[in-house]
Amino acid sequence: MRSRLLDRRRLAQWYLIGAACLVPVLACPATTLAAQERPLPTQNAMAGARVFGSEGCVKCHAIDGLGGTEGPDLASFPTSRTFYDLAAAMWNHLPAMVTRMRELGISKPHLSERETGDLIAFLFSLNYFDTAGDTASGRALFDENRCILCHQVGGVGGVVGPNLSISGTIQAPIEFATAMWNHGPAMSEAMQARGVARPRFTGSQLRDLIAYIKTDKEGLPSGPLYVLPGLAGEGRQVFVEKTCNNCHDVEGLGAHAAPDLADRGVSGSLLTFAAAMWNKAPAMTASMRAKGLSVPSLTPTEMADLVGYLYSVKYFTQSGDARRGRQRVRTRGCLACHTLDGRGTGGAGEFRDMPRFTTPAAITAALWNHVLLGEQGGTAVDWPVLKAGEIADLAAFLMSLSAGR
Ligand code: HEC
Ligand code: HEC
Ligand code: HEC
Ligand code: HEC
Repeated sequence: MRSRLLDRRRLAQWYLIGAACLVPVLACPATTLAAQERPLPTQNAMAGARVFGSEGCVKCHAIDGLGGTEGPDLASFPTSRTFYDLAAAMWNHLPAMVTRMRELGISKPHLSERETGDLIAFLFSLNYFDTAGDTASGRALFDENRCILCHQVGGVGGVVGPNLSISGTIQAPIEFATAMWNHGPAMSEAMQARGVARPRFTGSQLRDLIAYIKTDKEGLPSGPLYVLPGLAGEGRQVFVEKTCNNCHDVEGLGAHAAPDLADRGVSGSLLTFAAAMWNKAPAMTASMRAKGLSVPSLTPTEMADLVGYLYSVKYFTQSGDARRGRQRVRTRGCLACHTLDGRGTGGAGEFRDMPRFTTPAAITAALWNHVLLGEQGGTAVDWPVLKAGEIADLAAFLMSLSAGR
């Protein structure tokens, strides 16, 4: 567990390590990297962090202030970012990026399907990392929600529940979320017995509460602490082992007694997910009891893996429409360089003759790898600016071409 705890700056070091690996091969701490590496059915955020370094993104982009300053800090990306939001951002900024690369004498990295998938997983996983909470607001919430009636923080408060200042379990948000889930049933009973209304939270309220509880903890590093992005492959197993699939469906793995967790997509941060788990716990535990299931307890690592898994399946829920995609090829400027069924300006190739594309990551890689006409000495055309939904449609169209072969 401890080895999976780190803060955002330490995660950032992964891509700095990746960048360092570029130069002297021996400087690359292969053992540390390999320790984190596991083959996954879906994208791997940790591998993506390394691509970010090794492919030179870090020369121009920082994550939370660490890295280059030529391009925007990618940690301060708008909160909602699906796979296609990120694909669209990379496509839309390509001309400006390429211009800057040329000015700086940096060659444009060529990305493979796997690298693109991992890279997007990395950028996507930055959503896990909530910014530090507000202690003053946390203190107020601790009072208003009557936590103080049962718990002590900084020597003040009741003794019905554990003293949260000395509880060893709550160092990172994921641990807090896990503790709230595991102790939720007993806590709810204690609340009921004392006539305390069970509070509901938003993600940012949980974040502030954690910030307040942590103020009085000794021996803890200051600043936010996080757990590594969970491993999606492990999370898929946890989902089944912990009986979540008895009621929830994800990718056809489960029943439909409760909301489809990939569809409902808890967009936003880890703590938004934690808040949803807490808020829905009474309904969930009641329905577990009705089905004769025991309420599963989770370790922080299992919780992180579950979240990682749900995020990874949510990537692709923004599904496109192949018919609309075909239209977009005509209306969004692709035919300034390509042809579709012989119509268009050509030069860059006929859509029907393109190689097989079977994953959104492969298509995103192809879009990223576009050589701009200017680079080849041709005339510049207006670069089509695309929305995430339009890229989803284009991807559906391109995949439908290969499905027919
Ligand atoms: C030579 C510098 C440079 C390199 C290298 C570079 N970028 Fe950029 N990037 C930029 C600039 C400049 C912008 C802003 C362009 C604009 O405003 O249109 C940008 C914009 C972006 C954006 C959009 C951000 C937003 O807030 O909308 C993303 C995403 C992005 N880059 C990802 C990457 C990735 C991934 C890599 C590595 C494969 C990379 N960049 C490599 C300079 C660079
Ligand atoms: C009515 C009393 C009561 C109130 C109010 C209450 N709790 Fe608890 N809490 C408990 C009890 C009892 C436990 C231990 C449950 C168990 O043993 O499983 C507990 C356990 C916990 C734990 C797990 C601690 C650990 O060491 O793992 C956390 C975290 C927690 N509470 C946070 C809160 C927060 C935040 C609030 C306010 C929103 C709150 N509690 C309000 C009674 C309460
Ligand atoms: C016995 C059935 C059952 C099991 C098992 C179950 N849940 Fe639920 N879950 C529900 C129900 C019912 C709701 C909806 C409650 C509501 O909307 O009021 C729910 C809601 C949720 C929500 C909130 C969804 C949202 O968008 O608000 C999350 C997150 C969740 N469950 C996660 C899990 C996880 C993770 C597991 C496995 C550890 C699990 N559930 C196991 C029945 C179950
Ligand atoms: C400015 C000219 C230009 C525009 C506009 C353009 N492309 Fe391209 N595209 C190219 C060139 C040139 C290639 C050939 C591969 C290369 O060298 O980059 C290419 C390659 C591709 C490939 C990869 C084909 C392969 O064989 O791997 C795909 C997919 C693609 N384009 C899709 C699109 C889509 C979808 C649009 C519209 C949103 C579009 N392109 C707009 C110039 C363009």
